[in-house]
Amino acid sequence: MCGIVGILGEHEAAPAIVEALKRLEYRGYDSAGIATVNAAGALHRRRAVGKLVNLSDRLVHEPLPGLAGIGHTRWATHGAPNEANAHPHRAGGVAVVHNGIIENFHALRDELAARGMAPESDTDTETVAMLTQSFLDDGLAPVEAVRATLSRLEGAFALLFLFEGERDLMIAARKGSPLAIGHGEGEMYVGSDAIALAPLTSRITYLEEGDWAVITRAGATIYNAEGALANRAERRIQMDAARIEKGGHRHFMMKEIAEQPTVVGKVLDAYLTPEGDAVALDLEGIDFASIQRLSIVACGTAYYAGLVAKYWFERYARLPVDIDVASEFRYREPPFPEGTLGVFVSQSGETADTLAALRFATGEGIRTLALVNVPESSIAREADVAVQIHAGPEIAVASTKAFTCQLATFAVLVVKAAQARGALDAGGVAELLAALRKLPGLLSHALAVDDAIRTAAEAIAESHDVLFLGRGQMFPLALEGALKLKEISYLHAEGYPSGELKHGPIALVDKATPVVVLAPHDGLFEKTVSNMQEVMARGGRVLLISDARAIAQAGDEVWQAITMPDAPEFIQPVLYAVPAQLLAYHAAVAKGTDVDQPRNLAKSVTVE
Ligand code: F6R
Repeated sequence: MCGIVGILGEHEAAPAIVEALKRLEYRGYDSAGIATVNAAGALHRRRAVGKLVNLSDRLVHEPLPGLAGIGHTRWATHGAPNEANAHPHRAGGVAVVHNGIIENFHALRDELAARGMAPESDTDTETVAMLTQSFLDDGLAPVEAVRATLSRLEGAFALLFLFEGERDLMIAARKGSPLAIGHGEGEMYVGSDAIALAPLTSRITYLEEGDWAVITRAGATIYNAEGALANRAERRIQMDAARIEKGGHRHFMMKEIAEQPTVVGKVLDAYLTPEGDAVALDLEGIDFASIQRLSIVACGTAYYAGLVAKYWFERYARLPVDIDVASEFRYREPPFPEGTLGVFVSQSGETADTLAALRFATGEGIRTLALVNVPESSIAREADVAVQIHAGPEIAVASTKAFTCQLATFAVLVVKAAQARGALDAGGVAELLAALRKLPGLLSHALAVDDAIRTAAEAIAESHDVLFLGRGQMFPLALEGALKLKEISYLHAEGYPSGELKHGPIALVDKATPVVVLAPHDGLFEKTVSNMQEVMARGGRVLLISDARAIAQAGDEVWQAITMPDAPEFIQPVLYAVPAQLLAYHAAVAKGTDVDQPRNLAKSVTVE
């Protein structure tokens, strides 16, 4: 959510900032802008509404010289996505880019108005630039002016400042939103994450919560929240640029769908013994045998992964699970019985609602476990124990491979819990492990449904409403399938438990309503056949995604059937993510929407 880049370089900064912003554009694409300080020390900026390409087109005709610069790609929070509200914001000789929210900006703005300072935008960020300029007006030097500004700000932010007349200075601050400082040869960089800086440098220092840094070409001086000098380690980050390119695919989303056999394989390599016959995941003292209850918390797709895990933990490990959407969790003030383990799932590790929920749980004194894709993220750092999901950088806004990697990681935890709690005997554990070992191969087979799914998706793209049905552990997949379709094709879609249809939603079914049924052959399939009959009797078009045996049993009244490989029941939710993702992808392509950067959305939602 909003991407920030800064460069103090030896070459023109603006073109390099545009390139770095491209790698951050998944965080927001309502507008973009850059400010630079030129050779004469003058501060200038260019901004453009919409995607980054509009800004780079503008820079062709109106270049922005200077070796020092800051840039931003925006997901609008305060104020409409117009040019006046685009970052960088400027007041006098100060330019600022910001990710997050300044909660007390109205009060600050009133104070500044009393000094005769008037804003030009509706944003909270401009107030930060104005406040800093007011301290400069009072005679403070830039570093002191920023120190004074930071002491007045409430809220969550990552901030980067640039100053007129200062060709060798950027000041960065982190409170609630991450920032990485990159070290080059005679150059220094700042980015919202290491991905932005990947081709520029692999030497990264992460700011800690409350840190702020004075950066010159010679290096960074970092202060902690108390203003004391802070020693933050420089790390070497392995961020292969190829991993953040499309690799021959038309969209990142398709690349990431196709990567799933590989990345899920990485999860299993990381957490099973080399033979795959036992779990080798160390939870640093968390022992499932003494846990009475799990409380899983997440948002969106990560929440649906948690919902599958609820079915698994309860069934195989006999461990009761509560599950909450993160934005609701702390406000319902849940009690935490003795022995509760809080489990927080987040691809980005920065989702504000999930982070706030984790902090709430920590404050209540329960132990916390996080499933994350970004090891340096806030959620990974603040949880008692963090388990990586090994999906690698996920660039498409719609989550795909992170979902299956979250599921694979949960599956390993379920086996560990089942064993620790004695809920399964050795044979039962071996059966689950054998199923897990088949996952990468079966995911590759599942990808073969691509052509068949495309045909169905092209027809579905013509409809207005789509229903997704699933029973038991496939119910969360129905929710996930509907979410994916909504997000990227803008078709209205809802997911329901198959048996719930007749309690209301069946009223929506008519000839124009495709009903996607995710239903591998299992003990409940007979019941699902009845639910499909109910739909078809009302003219509904059923797209059945299932295995050959179930498709044969369903009869030829179904509108279309997609044949999935046979698979052990345990891993079916992971496998059936693939057709659900492909259906959304091809419907979006058929509709001509922006698959990787759908409207109104941003990856990594760092505001509540
Ligand atoms: C859907 C999607 C979102 C995220 C949600 C949580 O495709 O990407 O629903 O799953 O915003 O994000 P993380 O996992 O980063 O906390």
